[in-house]
Amino acid sequence: MDIRIELTDTPKAKPSDESNLGFGHVFTDHMFIMDYETGKGWHNARIIPYQDLVLSPASMCLHYGQEIFEGLKAYRTAEGKVQLFRPEENFKRMNVSNERMVIPQINEQDALEGLMKLLSIEKDWVPHTEGTSLYIRPFIIAVDPYLGVKPADRYMFIIILSPSGLYYSTGLNPVKIYVESRYVRAVRGGTGFAKTAANYAISLAGQDEAHKQDYEQVLWLDGVEQKYVEEVGSMNIFFVIDGEVITPELTGSVLPGITRKSAIEVCRKMGYKVTERKISIQEIAQAYDAGKLEEVFGTGTAAVISPVGHLKWNDKIMEINNNEIGKISQMLYDTMTGIQWGKLPDEFGWICEVK
Ligand code: COI
Repeated sequence: MDIRIELTDTPKAKPSDESNLGFGHVFTDHMFIMDYETGKGWHNARIIPYQDLVLSPASMCLHYGQEIFEGLKAYRTAEGKVQLFRPEENFKRMNVSNERMVIPQINEQDALEGLMKLLSIEKDWVPHTEGTSLYIRPFIIAVDPYLGVKPADRYMFIIILSPSGLYYSTGLNPVKIYVESRYVRAVRGGTGFAKTAANYAISLAGQDEAHKQDYEQVLWLDGVEQKYVEEVGSMNIFFVIDGEVITPELTGSVLPGITRKSAIEVCRKMGYKVTERKISIQEIAQAYDAGKLEEVFGTGTAAVISPVGHLKWNDKIMEINNNEIGKISQMLYDTMTGIQWGKLPDEFGWICEVK
């Protein structure tokens, strides 16, 4: 793929205090873009200075939400190498989301090549401080200026980069999660498995309610019976009950997380029994009452491994593992971050170095 490169004349100062990066506030000097037009396919791949987009106010993505996105990270190792974690999985999932949202397929190799080129230019933006990384946000938007409801004929594929710290300000301290019983995030036949803006937009009302009650995130129940646990929106969810690791199965309304998939592989390798199945909130409450709910944790690219310390379901408040990180959550955190930051050997073949 030909990529035109235009470098900035006015590079920005890099953040001086990497301990306070937060998540998704700072953006690097350049971005990758390519265009799509029916009949022409994806074309005009370019890396240009980071800048605002010029879009028609009639752009279809602004009205009907035809868009999809991904999230992955570049990590700096102690030796100064920059590496990615299973990036091909993100571009594969991007095409799954594209299919659901009637967005044209991308060439996954070309997308990875565009990302690699962008990262080779922006390498110095990958932060050095422990626990920080360069968050990568590829996304596709429908840009036809048209107010009718139909799949667009023109799209933009864009990759932006953001040096980031922790997604949750609580870090590895357990998060408080509110089980949403009023709103739902996804329904059978809907878009729950796709990484598309609408899934996040409709989660905001539940998140707002959770915040009002001093909870950080929402645990979504299935959209039909509001009984079975699905996911948290920014992460997938796992329960350890009586030594067994259980996570909701992928039924179409749960995002197929790459950290989720990797955590399952790591747990199995370490000899834990892992089961993907439907699990109801009632079953979790019963396990809690019986003293068998040993750990709850979330997995996600941004969230990494996040222990859950409190679960609030209606009037029931469950304090998990004395609000402390559990054995399996700690093992997963150490293993995943160890591989990502190059402190542990890459036994699974998940790492891809940026040259
Ligand atoms: C990610 O973990 O990369 C995500 O896309 C979650 C996001 C909503 C912060």
